[in-house]
Amino acid sequence: MIDFLEKQLMRRISSDQWIECRDRLNNLPPIWKMGNGIHIVTGYREACDVLANKKISSEFIRKLSDEALRFGRIDRVNRIIKNSFALRDGVEHLFLRELVAPIFLPKQLQTIFGKTEEDAKNLIDGALEKADSIDIVEVLARRLPILVNCQILGLPYSKQDELRLMIDALVAEIEFDPINRNETELLNLIDLIDSFKSKPVPRWLDPLVTALHQNRISELDFEATILLLMISGYGTATVGIGSSALNLFAQDQAFSKLKNGTYQTENFIYESLRLNPPVTLLSRSAAENLEIGDHAIPKNELILIHMGAACRDPNIFEDPHDFNPHRINKAQLIFGGGAHFCLGRLIGLHQIEASLRALLNYPLLIQAPIQNIAFHPYKIIQGPLSLPVKIDAQTMLT
Ligand code: HEM
Repeated sequence: MIDFLEKQLMRRISSDQWIECRDRLNNLPPIWKMGNGIHIVTGYREACDVLANKKISSEFIRKLSDEALRFGRIDRVNRIIKNSFALRDGVEHLFLRELVAPIFLPKQLQTIFGKTEEDAKNLIDGALEKADSIDIVEVLARRLPILVNCQILGLPYSKQDELRLMIDALVAEIEFDPINRNETELLNLIDLIDSFKSKPVPRWLDPLVTALHQNRISELDFEATILLLMISGYGTATVGIGSSALNLFAQDQAFSKLKNGTYQTENFIYESLRLNPPVTLLSRSAAENLEIGDHAIPKNELILIHMGAACRDPNIFEDPHDFNPHRINKAQLIFGGGAHFCLGRLIGLHQIEASLRALLNYPLLIQAPIQNIAFHPYKIIQGPLSLPVKIDAQTMLT
């Protein structure tokens, strides 16, 4: 049975399979050691405990040799990815995190939010002006986060397509996706990252640039931080928008319930993300021998937090497979926990909210049976690959 679960847990599981899988999980501890030696965490409380534990390290991936794990054929790209502060511990992590914190202060966020609202509306209005049928993932979910990236990095919107090509190439590299690998775009990306060292930047990036010029951080730290800002909010927000938009069609009368306030938008989004967490696995290692509950994890062993399972933990969420936006407890775990808690949570949530609002302006029908909507297979960032919808001409006429 454990063998079955190990195989199932490492891939994406559809809602139907979850019920079977979760029933079996209920008979197992919320954290256990798999046959391959990795400790897998499927309990919500245990996941929070692991993330908050001071003896946990995020450095595991970063420390793996190039032979064991290499992101990309270009050495520099590999080094930049591995140097990200998301994969570091202690003061180094904290210092770099603080340097970018100004981006996420309420004052800056208000500027970003206003523009995001307008951009989501323009993307949907523009697409539906051109055609009655659109793919929400293509015209909105994959575009809005790039516009937000342009805002954060101070790039003009005219650069959005170029930026998207570069970040897609980076994603392909990180996901070991041979079909979409693109060396030319990766080299362009490196040039772009380098350009931030000398060009004027938005004021919220000043602390980072100043730290570089005063030699308080290395060039590699700087490059890795710019790259993290580009990548961390792209796939996550894209699939977050996709999964939440999917629920507009998968849940009975979601359009009207959101419009008339029966569903609160934020609760609707959290519930959508709880059932399909954008980041499906978090990896950590034990910096020292430690115990989570009565489960011992020896020093240096690897821990994987399975967000999909933890966010459907029946000890925390009643009827965990049901979509219920009236739940009192929100699954904050979707955005991680402890020292690495998502810096861009509010930006991500706002993009999803702006997207739903833009979609609610139209009577839309989904063009495929819900169960046929394909999700990214076997990827850490998971959400619908496409969401084809069309204007409901009849409602439009009436
Ligand atoms: C729905 C959207 C999003 C989701 C579900 C999400 C989820 C997460 C999760 C789970 C982590 C923790 C990773 C770990 O502990 O290993 C994380 C970290 C992070 N996120 Fe997000 N994220 C979202 C949007 C964004 C956006 C829009 C940005 C920035 C523009 C962003 C920036 C970051 C950064 C910089 C970190 C690293 C924090 C650190 O290591 O200290 N995220 N995110």
